[in-house]
Amino acid sequence: MKTYYSKHFTIAENGHLHMDGVDLIDVAKQYGTPAYVMSESQLRENCREFTTAMKRNFGENYKVAYASKALCARFLYPILASEGIHADVVSGGELYTALKAGFNPKHLHFHGNNKTVAELEMAVECGIGSIIIDAFEEVDRIEAICAKKGVKQRVLFRVKPGVHADTHEFISTGQNDCKFGFGIEDGDAMRMSKYILEHEHLEFAGLHCHIGSQVFSIDGFARAAKIMFDFFCKVENELNIKMEELIVGGGFGVKYMPEDEPGTFSEKIDAMGEVLRAEAAKVGREVPEIVIEPGRSMVCAAGCTLYTVGSVRDIKDARSYVSVDGGLPDNPRFALYQAAYDAVVANRADAPKDKLQTIAGRCCESGDLVARDLMFQTAKAEDILCVFATGAYNFSMASNYNRVPRAPIVLVKEDGTTQEVVRRETYEDLIRNDIV
Ligand SMILES: Cc1ncc(COP(=O)(O)O)c(C=O)c1O
Repeated sequence: MKTYYSKHFTIAENGHLHMDGVDLIDVAKQYGTPAYVMSESQLRENCREFTTAMKRNFGENYKVAYASKALCARFLYPILASEGIHADVVSGGELYTALKAGFNPKHLHFHGNNKTVAELEMAVECGIGSIIIDAFEEVDRIEAICAKKGVKQRVLFRVKPGVHADTHEFISTGQNDCKFGFGIEDGDAMRMSKYILEHEHLEFAGLHCHIGSQVFSIDGFARAAKIMFDFFCKVENELNIKMEELIVGGGFGVKYMPEDEPGTFSEKIDAMGEVLRAEAAKVGREVPEIVIEPGRSMVCAAGCTLYTVGSVRDIKDARSYVSVDGGLPDNPRFALYQAAYDAVVANRADAPKDKLQTIAGRCCESGDLVARDLMFQTAKAEDILCVFATGAYNFSMASNYNRVPRAPIVLVKEDGTTQEVVRRETYEDLIRNDIV
């Protein structure tokens, strides 16, 4: 059978696009559009690619912690837990969602450059695995919370490795001029290490870095791993302590467009493994527990979005606009980063890609596009469009702009059945917080 985008999408004899054997036109009919559709089987495959590569490199001394910000909804956490995956959270809301899904709090860690006191209290109270400190003030806050409760909290802190990831400026986070983390060169990271040690209710467990998102180059990961390990050893030696864990972040790039060549997740983990083993051998130390935080790479390819075409407008000497029943509210990534997406007419996926078209959203913003100047099957009203690779940073960035209810998530399960795991919002949902 003909596949498109990945082996999880096939084109049936009648031209309909299927996900894991499920006809997406039937999904659109049953659940309506716009709708996010996720492949359980692809999700589990991604989990396994990461755990297999980590095991190959680090034996049992590793964790794969899914970065919840990419997609946070209850249905995901039992799937992750069953694959032995941990997770990070960056807000009380993400923490609440994971806990409500029954996720083990010890398997969570908490990020953020400005966590509120209420969020820190919530984290300490639930017995979260660790908190990744990102401010001197935060040290004092966690210490005060723990002292009051008479507990100790395991903490790490975020370091800037000074590596500039080759990606969009808004998602590059390893360089010096960045709101996250403490610099090695300017001595801030060593000062933070000493400061944590002065606090008796904090258990200093290790260091964290994250160089950015949607990174294709292997080199950035390898360089960051080396810099972080060297600094890890320096902290241990200068402060005469032993730390357990080095978190090297997420950022593994994925394929959005057919021409994208992000490479595999495994090759990046292998490169980090090689560097870390070599550096550890040089100083006669074991490699500490290595943790990665894949977000986008875990969920992006597992998701697509189905839209219904409402109208087509061919503008002479300009563009052909295909207007769909979603856009900015369910996918703000074009507006944010001019992100590129691939799409097909899902009810005629076998037809030739014969027309340059721009997929326009339904909001009152000219910048509300899903894809600009994309070659795909000539679209007409009532067609179902499938936009690929929307599993990450779509649902989690969705809004009610123009008071459009948020789209549901439909899970295509491994047994071939489908389930609406997040329901479509109603108009009542939209006014539930309006007090007067
Ligand atoms: C600290 C941290 N870890 C992990 C991630 C996940 O990145 P990605 O979704 O690119 O894997 C992010 C994303 O911004 C992050 O800030």
